Amino acid sequence: MRTVDLILRKRGGEELSVDEIQYLINGYTTGEIPDYQMSAFLMATYFTGMTDRELSSFTDVMMASGEVLSLGDVPGVKVDKHSTGGVGDKTSLICAPIAAAAGVVVPMISGRSLGHTGGTLDKLESIPGFRTDLTLDQFRAQLSQLGLAFMGQSEEIAPADKRLYVLRDVTGTVESISLIASSIMSKKMAEGLDALVLDVKVGDGAFMKKQVDARRLAAAMVGVGRRLDKRVQALITDMHQPLGYAVGNALEVMEVSQTLQKAGPADLTRLSLELSARMIHLGKVTSTLDEARKVAEDKLMDGSAYRKFKQVVEAQGGNPQSLDRFELLPNATGMREILSPRAGFVSAIKAEDIGRASAMMGAGRSRKEDVIDPAVGVILEVKAGEKVESGSVLCRLYYTSEENLDEAADLVEDAFRISGARPEERELILEVVS
Ligand code: URA
Repeated sequence: MRTVDLILRKRGGEELSVDEIQYLINGYTTGEIPDYQMSAFLMATYFTGMTDRELSSFTDVMMASGEVLSLGDVPGVKVDKHSTGGVGDKTSLICAPIAAAAGVVVPMISGRSLGHTGGTLDKLESIPGFRTDLTLDQFRAQLSQLGLAFMGQSEEIAPADKRLYVLRDVTGTVESISLIASSIMSKKMAEGLDALVLDVKVGDGAFMKKQVDARRLAAAMVGVGRRLDKRVQALITDMHQPLGYAVGNALEVMEVSQTLQKAGPADLTRLSLELSARMIHLGKVTSTLDEARKVAEDKLMDGSAYRKFKQVVEAQGGNPQSLDRFELLPNATGMREILSPRAGFVSAIKAEDIGRASAMMGAGRSRKEDVIDPAVGVILEVKAGEKVESGSVLCRLYYTSEENLDEAADLVEDAFRISGARPEERELILEVVS
């Protein structure tokens, strides 16, 4: 088999066999197939997509590239949550402790920032000392003890996805339904879970810009789960503006802390509670979803979710005090305000541009080897629908270097649309696919 022939066939829209997909993925994981050929294959896939059979094979081969965890010795129903990627989307850090505080076991294997979107691992690692490189034994032990552990995708879990994820990030091949579905489901199905809640983002700041595509992505992932006998539910949620106010790793951790202490933004709190409720329901803690919603709210309100998060931070080497004393988190050295050019209503905040600006200041990567700057990002002062005056602050950029700052500021300025009329309110939770 020759890699170039498979690239040509994919480029021509032909269906590849399981053996051919195995050859490609295993060859890339072992380093026999170079980045440039895999990049060409990914770009061909981006344009021609995959058949259902190819998606199943791609997912299975990536999952089998590492260990498939058995968590049978950890008591309880294991439920995870995963987002397809958004801007300011820090719900995992809120709904995981809520669900765990309710008695669900949450084995959370997360990813890093991808394109203009943030990653749970990068956010967690902005907490001083926090380690995401747990061994599988440590992961299991913490799950048994605390019911929640966060882990990076080690070489043991779907290593093929780990390598492809980094390559996709820097080759413009992220926004593909089949590549996203296989990436997410290969690592999630390797986690040894019983059920999964997916947050499929749609809108300007999401990889899926149209609801019809988000629905196809959700259906593809739910289908993979069903084939592997797992309960999977997907919410399709709005990502036309950043979720909450904070974008950037340490800034988002601060907002997580506020939200877990009942002082978070309304949109972030609402979505986190709904995702937690679905985890609690799928985790069989309650028999109805309405009961699960009540349990989720109780666990947030009585402080047990926040206590759970702090315990997990401490168990993973992080400093839990930094969640109350933000000066202990990485802090930016400079701040620039972006002002409204006129009075009116904020009719849109283009989330992708806010995410790109934040990444440009150092919160994301533009090359595989780039190191994240945990301190930088953007804090919105207003959200869509709010009234502003000429010269009032729309948002603040937090930076540690002036390199790229002007470009980031231009992008952010452009991201805000100010109009004369109050825009219609958008629904946050648009659909459920199960
Ligand atoms: N999250 C993932 O894990 N993979 C993707 O491709 C996109 C979001």
